[in-house]
Amino acid sequence: MKKIPVVMDVDTGTDDAIAIICALMSRNQLDIKAITAVAGNVPLSATASNTLNIVDLLGHTDIPVAKGADRPLKRELQCSVSHGATGFGDVVIPASARPFCEKDAAQMLHDIAVDCAGELIYIGTAPQTNLATALQRYPDLVGLIKKVYLMGGCLVGGNTTQASEFNAYADPEAMQIVFRSGLDVTMVGLDVTLKTAVPMWVKEAVERVETPEAQLASQVIDFCLRRNKEWGYDEANLHDVVAFCALVNPSVLTFKKYYMDVETEGTITRGMTVADFRDVCPDKEKNVWCAEDIDLGRFWRWFVDLFQTYEKK
Ligand code: RIB
Ligand code: CA
Repeated sequence: MKKIPVVMDVDTGTDDAIAIICALMSRNQLDIKAITAVAGNVPLSATASNTLNIVDLLGHTDIPVAKGADRPLKRELQCSVSHGATGFGDVVIPASARPFCEKDAAQMLHDIAVDCAGELIYIGTAPQTNLATALQRYPDLVGLIKKVYLMGGCLVGGNTTQASEFNAYADPEAMQIVFRSGLDVTMVGLDVTLKTAVPMWVKEAVERVETPEAQLASQVIDFCLRRNKEWGYDEANLHDVVAFCALVNPSVLTFKKYYMDVETEGTITRGMTVADFRDVCPDKEKNVWCAEDIDLGRFWRWFVDLFQTYEKK
């Protein structure tokens, strides 16, 4: 079966790390052309090194890792405390000696998209600064990316403010550029990802798998569960893993297409992803597929199977 060409854009980040591990275990399905890092959960220096260290620790030194934006398009960088100071919780792994790509994330994305001749799939699990930068720098890019899967936004509510989700809040202008670009966008937001707090049976099942992938994922999950217990909030939700699942196992989710835009002028509503639920804007094309529900039993079965059945070739 022909492999799906993919670029992942991450702000590693604990849930980004697990999504990367899942992607690395899926190379029988995916041709991972590159992984690009952006400032988000923590500064770019940390998101980039976390990403490179994970990729190399698990033996995928053939996958290029590129650095992107070190701040949002127009706003100051506001990091998250949820992932710890390093962005990787209290998990410590060897530092890779491999250099980052010389190209920045936007150029890397464009050049790969040209090579893939319109077949490239993009998964973004971070503020969308890199994709927005690439779309602004390379006007032809919108016709070269087949589909975009984003972890971000939400149909109702938020996790950073009462109105917005972290990735959208961090760089609302970037998310608005992506929503208005004409790309085929699937948004996997908090509406489904807040249902994916790791159950104990999943933690224990992954812990029993004696592979580097499972052991690393277990360390990250363990940190998230300890943080949640210590703080009393901020559950161990696998937000970014759900966005990855939307690509490789979409039947686990249900989607509906809406006309959506992003609030960039508001104060209370900064970064709110606003859906036209009642088609009150008939002149506006429905531009975003939104994940509305998730079959949790199937999601967790898929997640655990990925670890239990993976054998590095
Ligand atoms: O709101 C959750 C999202 O923000 C996830 O992508 C998490 O990694 C953070 O980037
Ligand atoms: Ca993320």
